[in-house]
Amino acid sequence: MASVEFCLSVFLLILGHCAAKYEPTWDSIDSRPLPPWFDQAKFGIFIHWGIFSVPSFGSEWFWNYWHDKRPEYVDFMKRNYPPDFTYQDFAPHFTAEFFDPKEWTDIFSASGAKYIVLTTKHHEGFTLWGSKNSWNWNAVDVGPKRDLVSELSDTLRKNSDLRLGLYHSLFEWYNPLFLLDKANYYNTSYFPSSKTLPELYELVMKYKPEVLWSDGDGDAPDKYWNSTGFLAWLYNDSPVRDTVVTNDRWGFGSICKHGGYYTCSDRYQPGHLLKHKWENCMTIDTKSWGYRRNAALKDYLSTQQLLSTLVETVSCGGNLLMNIGPTHDGRISPIFEERLRQVGQWLKVNGEGIYNSSAWRAQNDSVTPNIWYTCKPQEKTVFAFLLQWPDSGSVILTEPVPTEGQTKVELLGYGALKWESVKPSGLKVLLPSLTLNQMPCLWAWTLKITGAA
Ligand SMILES: *[C@@H]1O[C@H](CO)[C@@H](O)[C@H](O)[C@H]1NC(C)=O
Ligand SMILES: *[C@@H]1O[C@H](CO)[C@@H](O)[C@H](O)[C@H]1NC(C)=O
Ligand SMILES: *[C@@H]1O[C@H](CO)[C@@H](O)[C@H](O)[C@H]1NC(C)=O
Ligand SMILES: *[C@@H]1O[C@H](CO)[C@@H](O)[C@H](O)[C@H]1NC(C)=O
Repeated sequence: MASVEFCLSVFLLILGHCAAKYEPTWDSIDSRPLPPWFDQAKFGIFIHWGIFSVPSFGSEWFWNYWHDKRPEYVDFMKRNYPPDFTYQDFAPHFTAEFFDPKEWTDIFSASGAKYIVLTTKHHEGFTLWGSKNSWNWNAVDVGPKRDLVSELSDTLRKNSDLRLGLYHSLFEWYNPLFLLDKANYYNTSYFPSSKTLPELYELVMKYKPEVLWSDGDGDAPDKYWNSTGFLAWLYNDSPVRDTVVTNDRWGFGSICKHGGYYTCSDRYQPGHLLKHKWENCMTIDTKSWGYRRNAALKDYLSTQQLLSTLVETVSCGGNLLMNIGPTHDGRISPIFEERLRQVGQWLKVNGEGIYNSSAWRAQNDSVTPNIWYTCKPQEKTVFAFLLQWPDSGSVILTEPVPTEGQTKVELLGYGALKWESVKPSGLKVLLPSLTLNQMPCLWAWTLKITGAA
């Protein structure tokens, strides 16, 4: 009897390994556990680059806004280009002559990010790689005449531990096949079968991304895009099936509901803990994801604001995906570079409370404002992030429950601090008076609390 049971369990084990684990249904796709690296990573960099980086005016939605006759876009074209100029005429000016993937990789590494997400194709349809399915509308045929996805992914992998993520838009604003399907109320699928799906398979096979960041459902249902069919292949049979992570933008109504982690909206910041893993994608230039030559200093979030966003996001169980827009000639402008390097300097000191952390039972202090918490349960440690340095020389943390002779408090990058119990519950941490040179960092400070409940 025992040997029959043994044979049966061996048989089931083998069957389990051979049979497709995930079915092309949302129930099955949604049941896949997220590969753990993603939650541990906490911080990634989003890169919006494409033909829209040539006009670098207004928004990466330039083509659509101009097409829809928004006055500032019509004016811009009237003032600067001949009357018969088309959006396609921008492509030869997408030159990327200063694009140095090694330099980009160095900046990304210095930022403390653990992954990047590059727009391989935005809604304009131009592919940054030499796609077979985007004839004469890709970076190898027109513009730089280089495979930008290939250069960046190879260099990133050779020179860093960052994971590669690729953004891909399902729909294209003006692709005639998409417009035909749309006119047929998506009862035909010329566009997904000849464009979107071949591109997705091509991207995965060629570049083996570990994040596949889908976007732009064009209001078409996931059945039209065959999203669950594609995802079942991605999770069962693709070369990245064990580590790949995807988001939730796979068809009309799938956002915040189906797929991998949730994005819910751009700049999503729920302010409370979510049960499902999520990501806050936001952009340093508050007015655009693509580069804007006419951005003013006040349009860029400060390092202080970026770090507040990072801390709040991680405390609520999210990852932060912080966007930059490189220029048409391949530069990361010094303001983006400075922001990224400063976030990285901060993470060097305070990363212990960010990377590999978990959301705690309290996300922020219910009494003292602007204090956010994370924890590392296996180390019995709680981290309290102070977004401001208190003037009073002390700070009251009302959420942790201390024990005399057991609880220890440390200011990361500095050392141990004294504390006192307060009523009804909590602790008052005495802060040292530090000169600017003694400050472990300049924007947000982390108290590491061990031995408290
Ligand atoms: C397309 O399918 C819908 C149902 O999904 C149906 O109501 C509609 O009549 C069809 N339209 C055409 C043009 O075939
Ligand atoms: C949808 O995806 C599945 C799995 O990759 C595939 O077998 C099927 O042929 C696809 N269907 C269409 C209509 O493309
Ligand atoms: C996070 O945890 C993983 C898995 O245990 C480990 O490989 C990685 O080095 C940790 N990262 C940091 C920054 O502590
Ligand atoms: C923190 O939590 C409390 C409720 O527990 C809330 O009233 C407060 O506004 C929250 N936010 C900040 C930034 O402190």
